[in-house]
Amino acid sequence: MVQAPKGTIDWLPPEGGRLDALESAFAAFARRFGYRRVFTPVFEHTEVFLRLGEATDIVKKEMYTFEDKGGKMLTLRPGGTAGVVRAFVEHGIGRREPLPWKVFYAGPAFRRENPQKGRYREHCHLGVEALGDDSPQLDVEVVDLLMSFLTSVGAGPLDLLVNSMGDGACRPEFVIEFRAYLETRLDELCDECRERVRTNPLRTLDCKSPTCRSVTDAAPKLVDHLCSPCRAHFDSVCEGVEDLGWRSRLEPRLVRGQDYYTRTTFEVQTAALESAQNALGGGGRYDGLVEDLGGDPTPAVGFGFGAERVLLVTAEVDGEAPLTAAVVDVTEGGRSGTRILAALRRAGIASDAAGRGRSLKAQLRACERLGARVAVIVGPDEVARGVVQVKNLTTGEQREIAIDSLAASLS
Ligand code: HAM
Repeated sequence: MVQAPKGTIDWLPPEGGRLDALESAFAAFARRFGYRRVFTPVFEHTEVFLRLGEATDIVKKEMYTFEDKGGKMLTLRPGGTAGVVRAFVEHGIGRREPLPWKVFYAGPAFRRENPQKGRYREHCHLGVEALGDDSPQLDVEVVDLLMSFLTSVGAGPLDLLVNSMGDGACRPEFVIEFRAYLETRLDELCDECRERVRTNPLRTLDCKSPTCRSVTDAAPKLVDHLCSPCRAHFDSVCEGVEDLGWRSRLEPRLVRGQDYYTRTTFEVQTAALESAQNALGGGGRYDGLVEDLGGDPTPAVGFGFGAERVLLVTAEVDGEAPLTAAVVDVTEGGRSGTRILAALRRAGIASDAAGRGRSLKAQLRACERLGARVAVIVGPDEVARGVVQVKNLTTGEQREIAIDSLAASLS
């Protein structure tokens, strides 16, 4: 038997309806905050992702990369940010549209990770990006959007973690000091972290090994070494978030899995999932990325979250659309029922056929399985008189209604 690839999910009903409902709820929320829908390709030239940072785990180990027939290297997107930024640059948006350019997206993303609950090789990735504004109030807006949305769908209680990664003025100097500290304790670090000390020292903060953590716990903290513009920016973000009623916690380890972050990073965690997958969503500022992808210097901020993780922690999202009417047709050939069903659907009434061609009893049973509110019973005598029987499936009450006024009586 052929099976779905490891780490992928078939979204069968009713779960498929829940995913759909979550996406629609997010779209409505993002629009309410002034974000507009964007679609970018599911695959990009590999180079687009390489520019995000060659030393990150995603780029080094997790990308699905393939050569297409023309010899070009392509990669399935691991998230939404790179494609949006590439499109922003390619279409010269920064020069022809009012900024910030605020967009939201939803679609599949691919990372070759070890699958477990809440971690998949294909996941449904939703997020927003706002390009062209460095105001801390925009960081506050995206944090508020993510927190409000997750709260509205019942994903709480939530922990909001924040940090600042500094910028080109303060981070490089800090990294020298941080590396020098790690070099004094190299033999206590795992092999991977020893390599990170050379390539990307801040990545050691992500390591889960207890010995590496005790080394990095005692290390100098980037957030204590910010230059004054970064410090002021970060303070405004923290105060703004608090003003809107969200309690945040400073987490100096929060460097997040990507290299493109500058200044604010944030993550929303849940205690309802294992710690390796407890981030429902996260994001931050990436003021250098547009330039890295060939555009004019453009500050930007955004977040992404995985629908699967959110659906795992909330029971409140229900995507099953209830059926109003199920049509029971006991006429010869079933054409009358088909006509009535089509008329109901054209009038916008959710309706379906109940066990076409079967006995009255079997069709009535099917109505209940379909969860319809009423059964519309179409019999030969009734059709001859231009009427149908409408049975309320909750109360059992039955009445005769003219076919011409059926749709109006059900809406
Ligand atoms: P990220 O932290 O890599 O950030 O991913 C964001 C969220 O996507 C995670 O918190 C998680 O909910 C979900 N996610 C990631 N990988 C998986 C997976 N393998 N299985 C299930 N869910 C997953 C980014 O992707 C950044 N691009 C976010 C961003 C946007 N930053 C600025 N703008």
